[in-house]
Amino acid sequence: MSLGFIGAGAITEAVVTGLCEASAPGLSILLSPRSRERSRALAERYAVVEVAASNQEVADRSELVFLAVRPQVAAEVLTALRFRQGQRVASFIATLDSAEVARLVRPGLLIGRVAPVPPAAQRKGPIAMCPPNEQLAELLGPIGTVIQVSDETQLDAFFSASAMMAPYFELLESVSAWLRAQGIDAAQADTYTGSLFRGIAEKSTQPSGEGFAELVAEHATRAGINEQLRRELLAVGFYDRVKAGLDLIQARMQGRATLNDTLKTN
Ligand SMILES: NC(=O)c1ccc[n+]([C@@H]2O[C@H](COP(=O)([O-])OP(=O)(O)OC[C@H]3O[C@@H](n4cnc5c(N)ncnc54)[C@H](OP(=O)(O)O)[C@@H]3O)[C@@H](O)[C@H]2O)c1
Repeated sequence: MSLGFIGAGAITEAVVTGLCEASAPGLSILLSPRSRERSRALAERYAVVEVAASNQEVADRSELVFLAVRPQVAAEVLTALRFRQGQRVASFIATLDSAEVARLVRPGLLIGRVAPVPPAAQRKGPIAMCPPNEQLAELLGPIGTVIQVSDETQLDAFFSASAMMAPYFELLESVSAWLRAQGIDAAQADTYTGSLFRGIAEKSTQPSGEGFAELVAEHATRAGINEQLRRELLAVGFYDRVKAGLDLIQARMQGRATLNDTLKTN
């Protein structure tokens, strides 16, 4: 299948890398001619990747076009493009709802909104999509865990939850910085922190549908150090702030808040 990407930024790089590493048969990939170094590097690394001369060439030569520009420029980029009648389009754009994207790509056909994450490059991580679409699920299944929903507000919730990536690394940074402050060699501090978080993250990959309370209990030895730190973080509202933060991001996703809105301080 011929895939086109309008916008060759961070998420396109991750998805294209994952797809190429998965060596799906019969795939060809055409990238829009921005982020030249990144797209050129992808084309040099993978024989199936090519850089187009224009966004229009991407639309003209692709059976399925992925939209991966930032929302701020999406309307300008898409209104300048002509899609074929019924041409399939899928959107990665987090904050544009399907009604808006469908209008912008007409007479092309929006077949879904998709929320990939950067670990797609390593063929890991969730890929939420709405509505369910077997063709997209089959295409993207090799590069992540596909989760299909019919309700677009649920897709917005998944997009919102993906805002935990930078806060997660900030958490690792705090732990490693604390270890360094104890006089530990910087490389050892980073190795220990990365290895600790990677190891415990592996425990959470089996879906049970019952949340993660069992893992909390398993790792909180009675009267032990994990139990104490969890108790203290709960007491200062650390986890409630995470939920309130996700509410804020969800509100921004749905146009009820902006980048300037902040969490209320207690
Ligand atoms: N990053 C993520 O984890 C993630 C996950 C899911 C969804 N998304 C969504 O994916 C979209 C892209 O995010 P990103 O993180 O990949 O952003 P990014 O790294 O900033 O990439 C945006 C890309 O759009 C290109 N671009 C700008 N104007 C263009 C134009 N007129 N024609 C063609 N390309 C143009 C940029 O080129 P230049 O570099 O030359 O300006 C860049 O290649 C966003 O809408 C975001 O919501 C991102």
